[in-house]
Amino acid sequence: MWPLSHRHLCLAFLVVCVLSAISFFLHIHQDSIRHGLGLSVLCPDRRLVTSPMAIFCLPGTPMSPNTSSPCPQNSASLSGTWTIYPDGRFGNQMGQYATLLALAQLNGRRAFILPAMHAALAPVFRITLPVLAPEVDSRTPWRELRLHDWMSEEYADLGDPFLKLSGFPCSWTFFHHLREQIRSEFTLHDHLREEAQSVLRRLRLGRSGDRPRTFVGVHVRRGDYLQVMPQRWKGVVGNGAYLREAMDWFRARHEAPVFVVTSNGMDWCRENIDASKGDVMFAGDGQEASPWKDFALLTQCNHTIMTIGTFGFWAAYLAGGDTVYLANFTLPDSEFLKIFKPEAAFLPEWVGINADLSPLWTLAEP
Ligand SMILES: *[C@@H]1O[C@H](CO)[C@@H](O)[C@H](O)[C@H]1NC(C)=O
Ligand SMILES: *[C@@H]1O[C@H](CO)[C@@H](O)[C@H](O)[C@H]1NC(C)=O
Ligand SMILES: *[C@@H]1O[C@H](CO)[C@@H](O)[C@H](O)[C@H]1NC(C)=O
Repeated sequence: MWPLSHRHLCLAFLVVCVLSAISFFLHIHQDSIRHGLGLSVLCPDRRLVTSPMAIFCLPGTPMSPNTSSPCPQNSASLSGTWTIYPDGRFGNQMGQYATLLALAQLNGRRAFILPAMHAALAPVFRITLPVLAPEVDSRTPWRELRLHDWMSEEYADLGDPFLKLSGFPCSWTFFHHLREQIRSEFTLHDHLREEAQSVLRRLRLGRSGDRPRTFVGVHVRRGDYLQVMPQRWKGVVGNGAYLREAMDWFRARHEAPVFVVTSNGMDWCRENIDASKGDVMFAGDGQEASPWKDFALLTQCNHTIMTIGTFGFWAAYLAGGDTVYLANFTLPDSEFLKIFKPEAAFLPEWVGINADLSPLWTLAEP
């Protein structure tokens, strides 16, 4: 016999959850306090009494009475709890966020992010998915599902009420039908957008007064990829020749474009990107730990030149103009091609330029 009713148990548990979660979020997200914490707590239905849910809707999103609150949209028609394991860097987590949102919507489930993903993305974007309290995460009877990086039929028909996704999905095939919603989720906070715009304004004023300019964001992925690509994946990163060809593609199509270069290897860029035409600006600050400024700058440009990596993908996807990408950057027998389908990674309208794989020939011998 239970001395307390389910309702009492539930209420008592929720009080504990609320208190501990408040202190947790006050800790990680002091910024939100100014706007007040909007909490909405769901009492679980009876069969879930052993794993009650405390659901926290963090602001950082517009809370005007008009806009739909960050609490799950149309929550009445959605059920269950889905989340995704936050893994990897900024671009990876953007891919995980967008994929979670799209797959949950497709399956009529509520999507929640874990605190680590909120910590990675909320300082940059006005994301709206609610955050799952750690207590709830640890008590939920998850089924786990590792995603591959392209949409497939089985993902459209997942019955699970409690699903924790994982993997490194970053394919438009999951979420392109929601492009506007995804772009709205990844709207920059005002201060980041303003800062990026003021950098672009300075570049423009420095050169040509008020004449409107076309900005091409150039993202040059260096860092760990310099080893990972050849050694693990039989692949290359974009080289100087690729970047020259990509820039010429834009020079042929736009009058006096300005190339705004960001990279986690700015020194390499300064040495290897031909700036003699006077239209190349090395504007990135190259902060690997907090690449937000660079990311903001790229998304405020009109067009994009990518090299490789999800960071460049997202910059291009959000900037929304023409995109030139590095194509066929691994040998045909690379294991990379088992987890990465180019046609699911690059939008059909994007323009690929084949990579120069010759550095891999000499590298074949150990
Ligand atoms: C609220 O909604 C009304 C009608 O939909 C609209 O006219 C108004 O501008 C909105 N207010 C805000 C603050 O968005
Ligand atoms: C190009 O980007 C700049 C900076 O964001 C913006 O001011 C301008 O309106 C854009 N041009 C076009 C044609 O979209
Ligand atoms: C990449 O290689 C494939 C197979 O050789 C080829 O069909 C495709 O056109 C190449 N991509 C580009 C952008 O050249």
